[in-house]
Amino acid sequence: MSRDPGPVTGSDAPVLVASGCGGTGRELDALGGLDGIGGFVTRTITLDARDGGPRPRVVESPSGFRYAVGLQNPGIDGFLALELPWLVSRGIRVAVSISAASLGEYADLGRRLGRSPGVAAIELNLVPPDAAGAGLFDAREPFQAARVVGAVRRDLPAGVQLWAKPSADPGRLAETARALAEAGADAVVLVNGLPALMPDGRPAGLAGPAIGPLALRCVHDVASQVPDLPVIAAGGVVDADDVRALLDVGAVAVQVGSALLHDPTAAARAAATLRGDA
Ligand SMILES: Cc1cc2nc3c(=O)[nH]c(=O)nc-3n(C[C@H](O)[C@H](O)[C@H](O)COP(=O)(O)O)c2cc1C
Repeated sequence: MSRDPGPVTGSDAPVLVASGCGGTGRELDALGGLDGIGGFVTRTITLDARDGGPRPRVVESPSGFRYAVGLQNPGIDGFLALELPWLVSRGIRVAVSISAASLGEYADLGRRLGRSPGVAAIELNLVPPDAAGAGLFDAREPFQAARVVGAVRRDLPAGVQLWAKPSADPGRLAETARALAEAGADAVVLVNGLPALMPDGRPAGLAGPAIGPLALRCVHDVASQVPDLPVIAAGGVVDADDVRALLDVGAVAVQVGSALLHDPTAAARAAATLRGDA
């Protein structure tokens, strides 16, 4: 089952850079990491700048990584002034990831990004596994996640897509996806990092090949049980074979995340290989 990526990606390549794994974009571009990809998802941006958590922020784990970045970012003003203009000038399709402390803050961020030229999509980072206890709006319950979608959707121009990246709790994903679709999400992003702990006990996300089989199952289940909601996959993707496997179970596009920490060209190479398939 392979679906049309439709308006989700900006080229015929259904491969995107996942949130938080491509820096500001400049770092990857210097190494050819943005060439031919279908889009770039920014790290998660919040209303105010955040310094992030203590170091280390990324540690290797069997077949993957644990990360606890704590949403380090320049805040919406810094992002609009310093990061978005470069991405837009680079001509890449940009999805801006956001998290917020309240529905009002989410709506505010959505309004500001919605009127910023060059923003193709907003990706709601609804339950960041590495920011538990950081004062964010609690969107673990499906109805709360749907309220966030509703709050941002209301004032978003029709041309800007709204993607929702919920908690990676596999038990409630179909229920969550239905709620997100009813609230007006254009796509669901599966999966976020799984809840984990850093060796020193800080809340963390687990990423990389270790979570690949779980991502496959989540994408399969949501794509088959909520067929009207496009699924953008993430989780354990290293190469074009991993992308194909996720497309085969119903994803419309696939994000490459922590593989970029080993190989900054992983997304570009997967996109090139898939283009060769066509
Ligand atoms: C170092 C690091 C930072 C991340 N930062 C974010 C972030 O800011 N926002 C977000 O939604 N996801 C973030 N993620 C999660 C990824 O976008 C992705 O959902 C997850 O890593 C699974 O994909 P992967 O197995 O290909 O890494 C981060 C992951 C890593 C490894």
